[in-house]
Amino acid sequence: MRCRNVQRALISVGACALVTAAVEAQPPHASAKRFDDVYWENVFDALERGREIFRFDNFGNEDFWGGTLRLHEAIAGRDHGGVGAGVSPEAALGLGLKVDIDALPPQLVQALRRGRVDLGDPAVTLSLLSLDAVVGVRGLFDDAGRLESVGITCALCHSTVDDAFAPGIGRRLDGWPNRDLDVGAIIAAAPDLSFFASLLGVSEDTVRDVLLDWGPGKFDAHLILDGRPTTPDGKTAAVLLPPAFGLAGVNLHTSNGWGSVTHWNAFVAVLEMQGKGTFYDPRLEDAGKFPIAAANGFGNVRPEEDLVTSKLGPLHLYQLSLQAPRPPRDLYDAEAAKRGEALFVGRADCARCHVPPLFTEPGWNLHTPEEIGIDGNHAQRGPEDRYRTTPLRGLWTHVEGGFYHDGRFATLAEVIEHYDRHFGLGLSERDKRDLAEYLMSL
Ligand code: HEC
Ligand code: HEC
Repeated sequence: MRCRNVQRALISVGACALVTAAVEAQPPHASAKRFDDVYWENVFDALERGREIFRFDNFGNEDFWGGTLRLHEAIAGRDHGGVGAGVSPEAALGLGLKVDIDALPPQLVQALRRGRVDLGDPAVTLSLLSLDAVVGVRGLFDDAGRLESVGITCALCHSTVDDAFAPGIGRRLDGWPNRDLDVGAIIAAAPDLSFFASLLGVSEDTVRDVLLDWGPGKFDAHLILDGRPTTPDGKTAAVLLPPAFGLAGVNLHTSNGWGSVTHWNAFVAVLEMQGKGTFYDPRLEDAGKFPIAAANGFGNVRPEEDLVTSKLGPLHLYQLSLQAPRPPRDLYDAEAAKRGEALFVGRADCARCHVPPLFTEPGWNLHTPEEIGIDGNHAQRGPEDRYRTTPLRGLWTHVEGGFYHDGRFATLAEVIEHYDRHFGLGLSERDKRDLAEYLMSL
């Protein structure tokens, strides 16, 4: 075919033979990179980009956290162009914020080690922010070095540190939920809460009370959808910060099953973190269920500038690459865990829903509240009126704050007690202990 074309172009038969020989000697695209090389380059590039986004990207949300809430003014304090006393590193650590030791220059680490850094001084917090060392918080500084605005990243709630240097100061652990973090108290510290007040139709004082009611390790992503801050029995409706590791292979996410990882990533980046991006989910037009979201068009957000959509791919890949960490061997009794495993897949029938090795159902992983024997308060705040079977790997990293979406069971023993009652399992005390050891070993 090629030769006939060449002949048609009146090139000599000799030239045609040469071209044919050259084409036949080489596989197609021989000059291009090998498929496998391109593949690995793509994987590494995407994962590295995804990690940057997860840790450092605030999707332009400084216009909200700084511009609207003026949170940076409360952080800086009046001595540094803000308002109030400012937030010292001590106060920041007290709110559960974490410091990334790898972001600090060696001299600063030395000075910290020798106790020569005043952790009671808000100016030190500003230095830490300028070094990008406060996990999940991005400070923007003007040319004079003054804190001009502040934004938040995914790492704020879904990363912690290993405390290698001191409590709250260490190396990053991406995907681990920060159960020390008092998100409500942090937002409540902002000088201007009028955005939430007008959205919810209440006073700023009421907004502040609601936020302070959340407590450490919790956040209420549904508040700006339905405006319901408490459960029918008057408790905070906020839920625990979940891990962002161990999610590969899992179909639906969030405790009430909003959607895939990437659905929820867009949801959070745009609606919760108030980044600039496109978000579409017409289920939010249901005014009965989501009155605030429906009235404000949260189900179809189309800003001029989109700083989110192009990042969803790499962000997704990075999250899926975060495996649940294995527990240290001294954290559980291996013999008991083995007996517990036999119960889990056998008589206690846990594996019916928590299917190993995913520990959730492959497929549509949702259940009615009645099936698991709890109230439907939080299920009804989601689109399916159901609860998602939690993938159980890495439970040992988030015992703080308790278990189930709202931490209603303080310990694994209480979770097991609940199942024993609800399913009439007839577990002995030893069975219960064995099951708990197994859960800690995952
Ligand atoms: C202010 C705290 C906070 C920030 C910031 C945050 N999240 Fe979350 N995230 C939560 C809470 C709380 C939930 C659980 C919501 C629920 O179950 O109702 C959650 C759930 C998730 C889930 C579902 C996990 C599961 O197994 O069900 C994923 C995935 C996730 N977040 C990813 C992200 C990404 C990506 C970002 C950044 C774009 C982000 N989150 C930012 C608090 C936060
Ligand atoms: C019918 C399906 C089903 C069965 C059977 C089941 N679970 Fe669950 N499990 C769930 C759902 C759904 C949740 C999420 C509940 C919530 O967050 O409110 C859950 C949550 C959990 C949690 C809390 C995880 C966390 O991070 O808070 C643990 C632990 C757990 N299950 C262990 C077990 C054990 C042990 C058994 C067997 C005795 C068992 N489950 C049987 C569906 C099931």
